[in-house]
Amino acid sequence: MINQILSQILKEKGIGNLTITKSDRPDLCDYQSNDVFKISKELGKAPQEVGKNICERINLLDNFDKYFEKVEFISPGFLNIKVNDDFINKEITKMKENKKFNVKMPEKKEVFVVDYCGANVAKPLHVGHMRTTIVGESVARIIRFLDHKTICDVHLGDYGLQIGQVIYAILRDKKQIEDIDIKYLDKVYPEVSALCKNDEIVREECSKITKELQEGNDRYRELWKKILEVSVSDIKKNCDYLGAHFDYWYGESDAYSYLPEVEKLLVDKRLLVESQGALVVNVSKENDKKEIPPLLFKKSNGAYLYASTDLACLLQRKKDFNPDHILYVTDLRQALHFEQVFRTADLCGLFPKDSLEHLGYGTVNGMDGKPFKTRDGKAPKLENLFNEIKDIFISKKEENRNLSDEDLDKIVNSILKYGDLQNSKEKDYIFNIEKFSDTVGKTGPYILYTYLRVNKVIKDNNYESSVLSNKIYNDIDRNLRMKILDFEDYLYLAFNNRNPFYLADYVYDLCLLVNNFYQNNNISNLSDMQQKSDWLYVLELAKMIIKQVLELLVIDIPSKM
Ligand code: ARG
Repeated sequence: MINQILSQILKEKGIGNLTITKSDRPDLCDYQSNDVFKISKELGKAPQEVGKNICERINLLDNFDKYFEKVEFISPGFLNIKVNDDFINKEITKMKENKKFNVKMPEKKEVFVVDYCGANVAKPLHVGHMRTTIVGESVARIIRFLDHKTICDVHLGDYGLQIGQVIYAILRDKKQIEDIDIKYLDKVYPEVSALCKNDEIVREECSKITKELQEGNDRYRELWKKILEVSVSDIKKNCDYLGAHFDYWYGESDAYSYLPEVEKLLVDKRLLVESQGALVVNVSKENDKKEIPPLLFKKSNGAYLYASTDLACLLQRKKDFNPDHILYVTDLRQALHFEQVFRTADLCGLFPKDSLEHLGYGTVNGMDGKPFKTRDGKAPKLENLFNEIKDIFISKKEENRNLSDEDLDKIVNSILKYGDLQNSKEKDYIFNIEKFSDTVGKTGPYILYTYLRVNKVIKDNNYESSVLSNKIYNDIDRNLRMKILDFEDYLYLAFNNRNPFYLADYVYDLCLLVNNFYQNNNISNLSDMQQKSDWLYVLELAKMIIKQVLELLVIDIPSKM
């Protein structure tokens, strides 16, 4: 944020349009500009001459002292900028006094639909669903912080083949409706799904049931409703545990009634063509580097597919919310599906392509580098995973046994989520529970621990709100204040890239500096009362920011640890 303020001032004062960035050499200066080369090229002059000239003009500014301590030209073409302590403190004060840390809010408020979790009804939730839920909820919170409107939709897979498979089993096992509970679903779905792989007759039967369900078969619909009730309440429990809150619990089935209208739209635009009995939309473009196959809209047997319901859902969302952006958080492997859907939506005028975004994420791997599985070779149910992490954390230290269940759950969440979000979302990562649950290193518990410690220091010193002086007392102190001022930059990085990872990274660096600060600066023993109150002021602001970032990363703070 400071760099933007400085850029603006230099522009207003007629010095020019200089991009100012964080310094590569913080030991020498706070900010730098590398634009001298560019400007000298434009002017056809030597960088030396241009750079010196710009530097001189900055130094001659009448309000130079208000912002700068030192601005130097460094050969062959850099400007090194050190800002004034007083300026830093004024900005720190603005941050602390403003509810949203003086972050510049966007001029135009927009509407974002965030589509995440996307659990498939009747299938047990596993570790893969954790990523979409964590990333999606965090992205939604970041968007909301910037005063945009978010509409969070879980978009359950509630009408697909897995339902036909479970209904097949219910009929086969002659179960009554009351017999259908989560235990039964957890047992029967993997079983029939495996059976379908080897047995064509069963596979055909399950497809037939699915199609008849979608066409409105009463008996199947009754069973479907019960399956939905049982499964969705389990999904809700897990989402609650992970702190994900949805405005809508819509599913694929809710989009079904929009299919005829979408189909008509595609026909009217002459986009739907026949291909081997099926109806498809050609979405490839001449300059495609990779071939993009046609979107399959309707199978030859009349059944609609995943892509068709996503198109229908776009129409539904357009009518219900008329959003400016729709973000889909799923596994990267669905990239082609979304490319096809987005291109079709653009072609038929539903939504311009750049308003639709697929936020793909990488795979969660086990220690062997392969997709995370339990010892028995299965992808663990989320609930079991939560318990396993809890046990590992408890076993780390005797005192951990005394923590309340509520606090333990918060710590488990921090282990899971920080372990996840410290990776850029598109990266695969190794789910190392042992490492993620340490209280040292780049982990959730370390961040929580820092927060609780700094909170205690502030309380023990009876901090009351005060006015910050114009002083900064040492380098550690200055580094911490500068890091605090970076909050806005990282928030915007996370927002613009739809990637909470930037904030996860930032909060770790902030915590390192906070720890360093109170280990080296003994606040309790200070006799200079102004210094003491200044330091507590800075720590209080650091604490507030850690708390805010944790909230954006969907991590709650335990009462103790
Ligand atoms: N149910 C899908 C799956 O498990 C994810 C749904 C994502 N959202 C969407 N609108 N397609 O793969």
